[in-house]
Amino acid sequence: MEVIEQVSALRAIVAALRCGGKRIGFVPTMGALHEGHLQLLRASARENDITICSVFVNPTQFNNASDYKLYPRTLEQDTRLLQTVGCDYLFAPSAEEIYPQQSVLQFSFGALEAVMEGEHRPGHFNGVATVVSKLFHIVQPHRAYFGQKDLQQVAIVRQLVQGLSFDLELVCFPTVREADGLAMSSRNKRLSEAQRQLAPQLYLALQTAAANLHQKPINAIKSEVAQQLQQEEEIKLEYFEIVDSLTLQPLQDVSGHDEVALCIAAFVGEVRLIDNLLVNLKEI
Ligand code: PAJ
Repeated sequence: MEVIEQVSALRAIVAALRCGGKRIGFVPTMGALHEGHLQLLRASARENDITICSVFVNPTQFNNASDYKLYPRTLEQDTRLLQTVGCDYLFAPSAEEIYPQQSVLQFSFGALEAVMEGEHRPGHFNGVATVVSKLFHIVQPHRAYFGQKDLQQVAIVRQLVQGLSFDLELVCFPTVREADGLAMSSRNKRLSEAQRQLAPQLYLALQTAAANLHQKPINAIKSEVAQQLQQEEEIKLEYFEIVDSLTLQPLQDVSGHDEVALCIAAFVGEVRLIDNLLVNLKEI
């Protein structure tokens, strides 16, 4: 595997690969890699001739300075892991390399970014859209791999690809969880042992809510989730929403919807975690 830090060097490699008719799979990440990332890389290695992974902690998508500062950075370990999953190129640029001058572009995703992560993390999706657009232009992948763990991000990137006519296929993989149900996340590394024990409560709340979808009105389910999590002093619920799985707009009633997404964001101590569950209402 080759490690590349310069945009110009990667552009030259990509040009040669494309000229040679190679199909390129791309997995954008912010590093501190775990099994959630690795499944995307394995899929890319399986489904394409060449796999490129980016590790870049993107400053423009953090709306909280300390979250950016404390985000885990484990490039050496990431490099070793990437060598085990068939990755061909690791792109690990500096912030100056990606942002030689401050980015002033503004994206608007309408209703999609008015809810949940968009509402609670102002500017976040603008930063995601900026860096993903830059990376797509640099890497020019045939396929790009994303995780359902960040459901709203997938919807935003889908809209970005359609809106700007990026010539690539988006591929989405399900959320990978720890044995106790906690969704794998780089931020889990920042949890104390006691907080780590509490963190699966988020997934438990989603499961309880899913089991009640046919029995109780949405407002009742929402207040039960809030009550359940309030019992833990270290957990501060930011939002719990039941939304249409495609538009991600909050629902008052699930009738008439085939698939809904249950989405949650909460602080466990100082660490903000998100999770979601897709529920096919015909199957429960
Ligand atoms: P990051 O959080 O590193 O995630 C990189 C990719 O891995 C994303 O598509 C994310 O949804 C996926 N992923 C993370 N945890 C997962 C899990 N437990 N199961 C399945 N997939 C998982 O998302 C980002 O980075 C950034 O916003 C990025 C797209 C790289 C732009 O900076």
